[in-house]
Amino acid sequence: MNTSSIPTKPLRAVLMQRLKQRLKPYTPAWLLKYHHDRTIRKDRALYQGKALREVFSHVYETGGWGVAKDHSGFYSGSSSHDPAIVDTYVEAVTAYLGSLPYRPDVVDLGCGDFNVGSRIRPACARYVACDVVEAVIQSNRTRFFSSLDVDFRCLDITSEPWPRGDVVFLRQVLDHLDNARIAGVLASLTPYKSLILTEYLPLAPDFPPNLDKPIGPGLRIWGAIPSGIVVTEPPFELKALSTQILCEVQDNVGVIRTIAYELPRQT
Ligand SMILES: C[S@@+](CC[C@H](N)C(=O)[O-])C[C@H]1O[C@@H](n2cnc3c(N)ncnc32)[C@H](O)[C@@H]1O
Repeated sequence: MNTSSIPTKPLRAVLMQRLKQRLKPYTPAWLLKYHHDRTIRKDRALYQGKALREVFSHVYETGGWGVAKDHSGFYSGSSSHDPAIVDTYVEAVTAYLGSLPYRPDVVDLGCGDFNVGSRIRPACARYVACDVVEAVIQSNRTRFFSSLDVDFRCLDITSEPWPRGDVVFLRQVLDHLDNARIAGVLASLTPYKSLILTEYLPLAPDFPPNLDKPIGPGLRIWGAIPSGIVVTEPPFELKALSTQILCEVQDNVGVIRTIAYELPRQT
């Protein structure tokens, strides 16, 4: 990975990361908030002015979202692996895809380590999985291509053209982008029939949505004012023909919500 201009975390930090991962379910919300607040400030300094591809490559290289237990080398975070979260998602999304009047061609944008996508794959016709980190895509090709027939592509969804398909997945990707890039991504959805979007949102129903933040591994929920991405609210105001909450998993800080948006057909 070409992340030479960002300092690499020493092994000790990666081991600490693994320990934190284990302790997370037992950590009180206030302590998690304090920890994430510090991390966000450190990440801002580290990634300021860096290219998007360089930032996310560095996140994986340094175990910024945790460390893979199976030594595959890439880990997209606990919400991509926690069975309580992933099983609920897989069941709900599989049921939704099965309810469509056709077997959909899908495009998974920001597919990460593909632990989640690999379980959705059987419910789809063609499956194109994209991520900006070349090394993650290479690893996914080696681990999944022959068994799952997935077209893995390295692309930056904020600056490169997307593959064609019926359904787009954006699972815990938008929150890692700034608002200008999110607006660009949402404007590119017009060729698709539906969007399946997953975001981590504060529990308090009156949280201010879509507060801006720089690109990086942190989430809006951990900001000084907790926020989260709601694509139908300003400044994005996505217009959907219908909206259906497919599933929600709650922890003591927030809720991971997956929504299917039926998108207006292009005229
Ligand atoms: C938290 S991970 C989620 C991975 C996967 N969607 C899941 O739910 O397991 C976010 C992923 O988005 C990818 N990503 C971020 N910005 C991207 C961009 N502009 N283009 C493509 N992928 C991007 C990151 O590299 C990372 O793999």
